[in-house]
Amino acid sequence: MNNIRNTDPTIALLLRAEDHRQRDTFCLIASENHVSPAIREAMSSRLTNRYSEGYPGARFYEGQAVVDQIEALAISRAKSLFGADHANVQPYSGSPANLAVYAAFLKPGDKILSMDLAAGGHLTHGAQASVTGKWFQAIHYSADSVTGQVDAVELERLALEHRPKMIFAGFSAWPRQLDWSLFRKVADLVGARLVIDMAHFAGLVAGGVVESPVPFADVVTTTTHKTLRGPRGGMILCRQEWAKSIDRAVFPGTQGGPHNQVTAAKAICFLEASTPEFALYAHSVLDNAKALAKPLSQRGLPLVTGGTDNHLMLVDLCKTGFHGKEIAQALDRAGLVCNANKIPHDTRPAATPSGIRLGTAAVTTRGLTSVHMERLAGWIVSVIERPDDQKLLRRVAGEVRDLARQFPAP
Ligand SMILES: Cc1ncc(COP(=O)(O)O)c(C=O)c1O
Repeated sequence: MNNIRNTDPTIALLLRAEDHRQRDTFCLIASENHVSPAIREAMSSRLTNRYSEGYPGARFYEGQAVVDQIEALAISRAKSLFGADHANVQPYSGSPANLAVYAAFLKPGDKILSMDLAAGGHLTHGAQASVTGKWFQAIHYSADSVTGQVDAVELERLALEHRPKMIFAGFSAWPRQLDWSLFRKVADLVGARLVIDMAHFAGLVAGGVVESPVPFADVVTTTTHKTLRGPRGGMILCRQEWAKSIDRAVFPGTQGGPHNQVTAAKAICFLEASTPEFALYAHSVLDNAKALAKPLSQRGLPLVTGGTDNHLMLVDLCKTGFHGKEIAQALDRAGLVCNANKIPHDTRPAATPSGIRLGTAAVTTRGLTSVHMERLAGWIVSVIERPDDQKLLRRVAGEVRDLARQFPAP
């Protein structure tokens, strides 16, 4: 960081502080991860200097000989990693990727059917606070907190009643995988496009741990920075017949020039995610999630759906007398970083909901195994029992720091 220190010592100090924070704590935020040094290097490369509106071989600026090769490589790696006909690697992030899909298929006022935000869906799946909920008419389904699944009869009933043009499947906060074939069947029944947003579990798909949504969906959107462990960004995969519409919807429909330094980092991410080591990592993420969920529920903390089949779990805090924000803040003080989250049928507001969401993607990258999950669970339970006990929080933070320093992030 010599250059930053010379140019802007204030930012250098803050970046160092963040390095230390990440070094001394464990990240249990289900949407975060630690990228490889190669990915970080690519993101700080001179590609950031370039404008490349358009696509490989058809740009609006000259000097693209190198950028074209990088984007073409990222596209071909993405297609082969996920077995997709077509990939667009330009979306700046998950939200713009989803916005482009709306732009490709819908007109303002059209109907969509998607998972309710309060039930684990994402803002961009038509939630009221998002433009996707203001510009399109969203009808929502939920998954059942006992079976973990979407009720097939209810989904079909909603589709037949409202005849949405697009059905969104995928989630930000649901601890089970959904039945993609059900969504395909219902989409076909009403002639809707099926979009599956695998942002959260893309790494588990790449590692062969959960069923891929690609064979079922017209379009699959994803972020590249969660379980996939790539740079902060988005991507759209689709069937060949939608390739042109999707490309046009990304550029010029909803974006300008792609972030070439991130495209290079995405290419590296797809290469890393295609290795046997990554498959092992993805399996360990799931093993660790199960190994964390078990002691938590054994020690009396109810988990939504009783456990997990992916990288995340939702802890129901209703009986503790504390809301999710209080617990998330106490855990943060104890060096265990997570987020407060709504649980199904939550009557509390989004800012102080009744649950917390925990994920194992980042701690697995640091090398923690199921043995360590037992320790994490012990700390989490003790903090939830006494979140106001500052002495306890300091003690746990010290123990977390000692363990975290033995498992440096890449
Ligand atoms: C399912 C899902 N889709 C889309 C997004 C949006 O991604 P971003 O925050 O990169 O815009 C998220 C982010 O958490 C997500 O969970």
